[in-house]
Amino acid sequence: MELQEQLKRIQESADFIASQLPPAETAIVLGSGVGPLVQIIENQQQLDYKDIPHFPGTTVPGHSGKLIWGQVHGRAIYAFSGRFHYYEGHAPETVILPMRVLQRLGVKNLILTNAAGGINTSFQAGDLMLITDHINLTGYNPLRGENSPEWGQRFPDMCYAYDRAFGAVLQEIGKEQGLRLQQGVYCGLSGPNFETPAEIRMLRILGADAVGMSTVPEVLAAHQMGIRILAVSCISNMAAGILDQPLSHEEVNETSKRVEQEFSALIAEFLRRMPA
Ligand code: HPA
Repeated sequence: MELQEQLKRIQESADFIASQLPPAETAIVLGSGVGPLVQIIENQQQLDYKDIPHFPGTTVPGHSGKLIWGQVHGRAIYAFSGRFHYYEGHAPETVILPMRVLQRLGVKNLILTNAAGGINTSFQAGDLMLITDHINLTGYNPLRGENSPEWGQRFPDMCYAYDRAFGAVLQEIGKEQGLRLQQGVYCGLSGPNFETPAEIRMLRILGADAVGMSTVPEVLAAHQMGIRILAVSCISNMAAGILDQPLSHEEVNETSKRVEQEFSALIAEFLRRMPA
């Protein structure tokens, strides 16, 4: 899509949201496994994605499509319940549309959550993982195409994409709460199939600790725009071939459900202590 058309759509989405919801400097993308966080958001106001100009509907069971404004520990946030995945058939610019819109809304901090398969054999299903870095094997890059200077640089540095001060605070909370909070490298693939056992062996050699089908494009766009990022995975299953059993979306949802209480508590406490 032409840059001018993209910028026009981003502005229209942002203008609509700004006309319906109060402002916030922090946003969270709720992947599978942080459901209860929605319930602790106070003074909620909601928009359905279908009412936001240029936002497509979501198609994944277990992912609803709502933008929620509210407060957690007095801090205003936008919470995206449901995200746009490449495997649903969305164009790269659609996958990152919410990120571009957040910048127009003045958001400075972003929390990304997801479900991921554990590649590191010291992990177990139900662990949480602070993402410290990523490998982009999605096969595409959402920054490809004409760049708008208002987004940021043509060649963004990626050394500090995952905010270290944010990560340190999360680790501190994880220790206090006695959580199995791991840290590691997230590898993003396009999906929608789960990986083959051979692919998982390859990814382990490449240095990946977990694998999933989201987050990487969002980080690329948000970091280019200078938004500070915390990203956390729920290790919903061990990746293909590690245990002698098939993978399923049901297992992903079941494990996410099992740990969502502690996952949500961790994120809520992070919101309280988020460093300026
Ligand atoms: N692979 C890719 N994506 C995932 C997985 C997995 O094993 N689990 C949850 N999301």
